[in-house]
Amino acid sequence: MKKNIIVILAIITGFLVSTGFTPGRFSADAGVPYPEGYRMWTHVKTGLIGPSSPSFQVSGGYHHIYANAKAMQGYTSGYFPEGSVLVFDVIEAKEQNGNTLEGERRHSDVMVKDSLQYAGTGGWGYEEFGGDSHTERILTATVRTQCVACHAKKDDKVFSEFRK
Ligand code: HEC
Repeated sequence: MKKNIIVILAIITGFLVSTGFTPGRFSADAGVPYPEGYRMWTHVKTGLIGPSSPSFQVSGGYHHIYANAKAMQGYTSGYFPEGSVLVFDVIEAKEQNGNTLEGERRHSDVMVKDSLQYAGTGGWGYEEFGGDSHTERILTATVRTQCVACHAKKDDKVFSEFRK
């Protein structure tokens, strides 16, 4: 009897390993991965947040939005497939001889569509990486609820539209 249980457990473990299952896979706060290579993705649009905006303190300067190939399908169909990744890249705006140029990167905000993993935040995972860092996650739980609440106002949680 004991032997049978051991055999059954071994079969289950083998199955889970073969499917790539790891215990953290379905946890609500699984980290959003850094979007490696996003500067080579499709540029959706750019915006400039000025001093009179309520967002100036946190996101003042230029922001460029980038989409991976799956997210580009979403801009066309209105429904973003699983694996869609969007980046909101915030770069300082600085004055030089009457020209407004890009300065340092302030932070990069990321949204990843994974309905199972991020079910608790509307099917999208939210993260913010500080400066040029690929590892420094600066989003607190409180601020994350603000990202989720504001993005919840839009169909499939995405505000921007692709600029032709
Ligand atoms: C008060 C509302 C509001 C809050 C809070 C907010 N966003 Fe956004 N977000 C926007 C708007 C509006 C845009 C579109 C900007 C544009 O079109 O230039 C946007 C764009 C984005 C995009 C590009 C995809 C899209 O929806 O267009 C990402 C990624 C993003 N935000 C991530 C975040 C993250 C991460 C947080 C939390 C740190 C956050 N946002 C907080 C309003 C908000």
